[in-house]
Amino acid sequence: KTIQSGSFTWSSPSNIALVKYWGKRQNQIPENPSISFTLDHCKTTTTLSFFKKEDSNDFSFEVFLDGEKKADFKPKIETFFNRVENYLPFLKDYHFKIETSNTFPHSSGIASSASGMSALALCLMSLEKTLSQAVSEVYFTKKASFLARLGSGSACRSLEGDLVVWGKHEDIEGSSDLYGVKYPYEVHDNFKNYYDTILLVDKGEKQVSSTIGHNLMYGHPFAQERFKQAHKNLSDITSILKEGDLDKFIALVESEALTLHAMMMTSLPYFILMKPNTLEIINKIWEFRKTTGSKVCFTLDAGANVHVLYPENEVDFITKFINTELVAFCQKGEYINDKIGFGAKLL
Ligand code: PMV
Repeated sequence: KTIQSGSFTWSSPSNIALVKYWGKRQNQIPENPSISFTLDHCKTTTTLSFFKKEDSNDFSFEVFLDGEKKADFKPKIETFFNRVENYLPFLKDYHFKIETSNTFPHSSGIASSASGMSALALCLMSLEKTLSQAVSEVYFTKKASFLARLGSGSACRSLEGDLVVWGKHEDIEGSSDLYGVKYPYEVHDNFKNYYDTILLVDKGEKQVSSTIGHNLMYGHPFAQERFKQAHKNLSDITSILKEGDLDKFIALVESEALTLHAMMMTSLPYFILMKPNTLEIINKIWEFRKTTGSKVCFTLDAGANVHVLYPENEVDFITKFINTELVAFCQKGEYINDKIGFGAKLL
């Protein structure tokens, strides 16, 4: 079937890993399995318009962010197109207009690669579905996640919710290195509707990209132990999620965040992405937990911002804590209120 022109729009969320992915092999294969909460508010909306062209010689596309043409986004998308061309043979038959916008500010230090790449992968799958005869829903989601992975590893965890596993793990049925799968087991009510307030500590470009960071895990003196630990933590978190043990959850999630940054600090060359205010916030959270018995905890991405995680029954309590004690450590006092979400949507 051929189709001359048309467009699809998908919105896809960001995600925050509880057990972190850090280190990969060829073709975006993760060195260890990871699990993440899908977010709700932080998302990218992408419209892919396509126009059949005469030749099939080269990729042809233009990219817009918030209506503005973005030449500097082209190399990343060109790389992505090269990686997925074999799986989407129609790519060179069309000219594409990619129009994208994020709900979070572009320079917030929040990576838009997970939400952006998953939204684009979904748009391309919608085109494939239109061109092919029969595409089942399972095939659609798996392949979209597979393609998103080739754009940015963690993007493959952004299509569904509320918990997604990426990477083969013997305890998790259906898990794969090639795509993310919805967490298939029982989750205690304590973890339903979890909240994530993202404190914007540093909104600048990070000094070391995650691509470079992943590569520094090659020959890293602690890499093999770290990959083993992530496997064990994923096993452990399945029982924690089932039993609803918030104290064990806190210990595992915070240890994962600090281990991620410890890997960065012990790479060669070494680097530090945390800022003084990142540590100020962590100490405040520990102090607050000790004095109040709250179940609030933190996690970190590859950057200085702090994700403050807390259960639904503490929302008022933690909102007050953030406003009185933590906002002072945010750049311009800015933060983003988010919570667990349920994945991408076709608009
Ligand atoms: O998807 P990438 O290549 O940008 O890697 C991101 C890795 C972390 O965000 C640091 C951890 C994770 O699992 O999301």
